Amino acid sequence: MEFRFNVNEVFKQPIVEITNNLIPPDYTGNRRMLTDTVSKVGEVINELGFASAKAQGLSRPLTSSDKLKNSEHSVYLAVDDQANYGRGAVAGLLKMGKKSLYVFDRQGREYKVTAPFLFDFYVPENRQRMGWGKYLYDSMLLKRDIDPVQVAFDQPTNPLLNFLDKHYGMKDPVKQNTNFVVYDGFFPNQEVHITPQLEYSDDEDERHPVGKSRVKPKYTLEFPDEDEEEMYRSKNLLG
Ligand SMILES: CC(C)(COP(=O)(O)OP(=O)(O)OC[C@H]1O[C@@H](n2cnc3c(N)ncnc32)[C@H](O)[C@@H]1OP(=O)(O)O)[C@@H](O)C(=O)NCCC(=O)NCCS
Repeated sequence: MEFRFNVNEVFKQPIVEITNNLIPPDYTGNRRMLTDTVSKVGEVINELGFASAKAQGLSRPLTSSDKLKNSEHSVYLAVDDQANYGRGAVAGLLKMGKKSLYVFDRQGREYKVTAPFLFDFYVPENRQRMGWGKYLYDSMLLKRDIDPVQVAFDQPTNPLLNFLDKHYGMKDPVKQNTNFVVYDGFFPNQEVHITPQLEYSDDEDERHPVGKSRVKPKYTLEFPDEDEEEMYRSKNLLG
């Protein structure tokens, strides 16, 4: 997508991460220039957010500069610096954040996790199916140091489902109640799972068959080893 201003003067890298202050990475300049730059970044985010909503048939954009300002989310932009006679163009937008979720695996076991969440993803029509989406998505995974299966996807479209299948071999999503999906490998329980265990009272009377009604279920997390546990904790997958 092209703009009235020189995109390469605003974004100095092929992939930029924009957070709630709307200041591009590597920004240098005085106060007046900063206001101008922030306004241009806002314009880019609003235009791509609007086009994304249109492409997905949504009545309202999922991404706007105002929404980003009031969030802990990140918008990643892919920049084609060769386009528009060297003035550059924006080749894609992806909005990520972390979200606390209750998720069910295929066996119906429930987990509470805080996980990377994909809110929005868009490549302008004239650049789709040319690899820009993969480039942007891979860059985001690398920057956040996460695997594709660790991400939860909000209301994925068919193009996105195909995209995940084609590039990452992710098939057969596990649909969740509130319209997001996850994939095998997302759940801590592939190696780790929540197992109900019975905790018996020391009290003789409570161990009597009648007292069994007072036996309390206790839920524990089982880890194959300490490194595994640390990995899940460090990635906040245990919430
Ligand atoms: C999904 C999207 C971001 C992928 O970006 P992209 O630059 O087209 O992706 P890449 O070129 O890296 O990969 C192409 C693959 O993505 C999938 N794909 C992309 N567009 C598709 C479409 N219109 N229909 C079906 N699959 C599509 C296919 O698997 C495709 O491979 P193929 O061309 O061999 O069939 C982009 O198509 C898009 O913006 N779509 C409209 C908005 C949207 O649906 N966003 C997802 C929000 S949940």
